[in-house]
Amino acid sequence: MNACIRAVVRTSIYMGRQAAGIQQGYQGMIDKRIIDMDARSVSNIIQLGGTILKTARCVEFRQKEGREKAFKNLKEAGIDALVAIGGDGTFAGAELLSREFDIPVVCVPGTIDNDLYGTDYTLGYDTATNTVIDAIDKIRDTAASHDRLFFIEVMGRDSGCIALHAGTAGGAEAILLPEKEMAIDELIGQLQRGASNKKTSSIVIIAEGDKNGGAYNIAKTVKEQLGFFDIKVTILGHLQRGGSPSSFDRVLGSRMGYAAVKALISGENRKMVGMSCNAIKLVDLEESINKHSFKLEEDLLEMTKILSI
Ligand code: F6P
Repeated sequence: MNACIRAVVRTSIYMGRQAAGIQQGYQGMIDKRIIDMDARSVSNIIQLGGTILKTARCVEFRQKEGREKAFKNLKEAGIDALVAIGGDGTFAGAELLSREFDIPVVCVPGTIDNDLYGTDYTLGYDTATNTVIDAIDKIRDTAASHDRLFFIEVMGRDSGCIALHAGTAGGAEAILLPEKEMAIDELIGQLQRGASNKKTSSIVIIAEGDKNGGAYNIAKTVKEQLGFFDIKVTILGHLQRGGSPSSFDRVLGSRMGYAAVKALISGENRKMVGMSCNAIKLVDLEESINKHSFKLEEDLLEMTKILSI
């Protein structure tokens, strides 16, 4: 996100506009936490995780009165166009603000879940996936040395994208996702098959939104039925949401921020900047909010099953 903020500020200034930053998202818009930004206020941030502007969930902005207050503050600060970075909640807020108060907005997809319509990648997803792969690799050392079965739970309340891709890249024995149920019996069968094939350790990746009830529950059920495995559970949690961004995310954030400002200057409104087939494009914001995107590549699950024999 910081690469994107840097790009928005510097592109605006280069193109003869002024830039301001709103701290803590819509909450900051309501509470007047609006700061002037110049080219130097975004120096040395491209390598930082998180966001220098901070973020917050804001219930008040869901009500029209909250948005009205926010708009008045924007007007007072001389802000006449907005770039909003976030997921579908951020987009829905931006869309309403723009329609109700006639202020142009362009959104940038920022979520590690990679589940927004109209873009192949969202900001943070590549970094988070690489963090998970790094963790799997490290856990694999213990799994292999001690002949253990590990259940690793990764983020993704509604999206199995991190689990599917990190699991594939990490050589997992099985991957459990919210989008496609895998019965515990099937999982046990797969693990048994590995064991009878002289496999002494295994790694199972579980997305937090998987319908079987999370890594601890699954581990407990498997333990009851597969007594011979030494089973361990690791929940990766919020460490997936931080850290220095990958080169891919830095380039993506820069491209999207640059494109968002150019789009606003050329008169675009209610658009999301997306990337598909390595090209930046604009997508209708409404479409990106209403359509669900991540198409689970079922071939990866099938492939995982074959490659983990
Ligand atoms: O951004 C979505 C997400 O990454 C989900 O995958 C996860 O469940 C959630 O964020 C966690 O958010 P919070 O920090 O509010 O617990």
